Amino acid sequence: MISAEKIPNNVNLSDNKRLQRALEHWQPKYIQWWREMGPQGFQDYHQVYVRTAISVDPEGWAHFEYVKLPEYRWGIFLADPVHERKIGFGDFFGQPVWQEVPGEFRNQLRRLIVTQGDTEPASVEQQRHLGQRCPSLYDLRNLFQVNVEEGRHLWAMVYLLHSYFGRDGRDEAEELLERQSGNRDKPRILEAFNEPIDNWLDFFMFTMFTDRDGKSQLMSLSESSLDPLARTTRFMLTEEAHHMFVGETGIARILERTCQLMKQAGFSEDVRTIGGIDIPTIQKHLNQWFSLSLDLHGSEVSSNAASYFANGLKGRAKEEGFEDHVVKNAMYNMEFFEEGRKVAKEVLMRNAMNEVLRDWYVGDCAAGVERWNRILERYQMSDRLRLPDRKFNRGIGMYSGLHFDPHGVPLSSDEWEKRKYDWLPSAADSEYLLSIMAEPVFEPGKFANYIAPPRRGINQQPIDFQYVRTEQ
Ligand SMILES: [Fe+2]
Ligand SMILES: [Fe+2]
Repeated sequence: MISAEKIPNNVNLSDNKRLQRALEHWQPKYIQWWREMGPQGFQDYHQVYVRTAISVDPEGWAHFEYVKLPEYRWGIFLADPVHERKIGFGDFFGQPVWQEVPGEFRNQLRRLIVTQGDTEPASVEQQRHLGQRCPSLYDLRNLFQVNVEEGRHLWAMVYLLHSYFGRDGRDEAEELLERQSGNRDKPRILEAFNEPIDNWLDFFMFTMFTDRDGKSQLMSLSESSLDPLARTTRFMLTEEAHHMFVGETGIARILERTCQLMKQAGFSEDVRTIGGIDIPTIQKHLNQWFSLSLDLHGSEVSSNAASYFANGLKGRAKEEGFEDHVVKNAMYNMEFFEEGRKVAKEVLMRNAMNEVLRDWYVGDCAAGVERWNRILERYQMSDRLRLPDRKFNRGIGMYSGLHFDPHGVPLSSDEWEKRKYDWLPSAADSEYLLSIMAEPVFEPGKFANYIAPPRRGINQQPIDFQYVRTEQ
């Protein structure tokens, strides 16, 4: 039986019998999926110190308790309504927002919600083996926190599908549990969510760059004219911030440790000989996840993006900050690549909305990389991390058939094949990373050799707190 205790919510679930029944039908399938595709080896005998949202106010959304993962209370929350909220962009600018889905935009909205929803369980699947290689209990707990919240984000999208899309919505909700990351026959919708994440360097880069794409997408959906979608995604953003914190500080701690090891060994020493992660390997993983996440923003010129904007379904990040919200005739200056040369051309801004969002995303990533470089500076290292050029390693959009180095210099296919592992993780790199992560660290307060401890613990607990405990 589904109740407010089992599913904390602020959507009056107990008053909505139809919705309650639909979710009751879906929930056992979700739990089965979680057991099979969620964290492997941590389902039955472990208690995890996690944050559970039990309401949207400041105390309620960060309530901490020990739980067994399959018993986590995945809730449904919408951010508080904005009084008399008006449509903020597109052709319907200034009209009241919608509380129901307009028939003419039903398919487009369903597609947006399903695409967002599909990424949530996908990342849980990608990360399901990482617990067995964790660098500390603190990190293990953070991994599971991210996982349960991605599960909650799936619930958030399923709530919308069940509430506003009738039978189609129910079918889509089932399919969200049927597709599987990396599965040949039924893969996840977007490519970055089919890539394996089997070491912690990948995990931290994923949460830094791919969860930040999540932030881009959620920010643009939180502008939507469909008010329940806007409010759902607005609340998801509060959780997303923690995922990026995990990624950014995870890499910062690896950099810190790499610098310490290099100092100990003398600067010219290969840090791998003493079990650290060398900066070139870190850069390669950055290149990989940044370029995959750029792809997630879609094609540079896109009529879909134009129509999402015109119809008020998906806006820009921080729409309020723009002067022109209708963007009827405005142009965007875009760099094309024709016959091996850059050509600047103007395109209608509406058609360039994916690129506009990508601009915001690149700026947000660059600020993070700057913060990482301060650590290298502090240790007086001459190396710096950098974002590769946008054209590098793209699988979607106008650069996808072409090859570029990380500086954006065009390459022939032969050159690319010869040099790509100078810039992207090779099999040998992965093997090395797995070798230093082979043994999980489960002792409170202990950290694997390749990563520094965090500055502080979670929820004001000490660093050596038992964030995950075993219960036999
Ligand atoms: Fe998410
Ligand atoms: Fe996330």
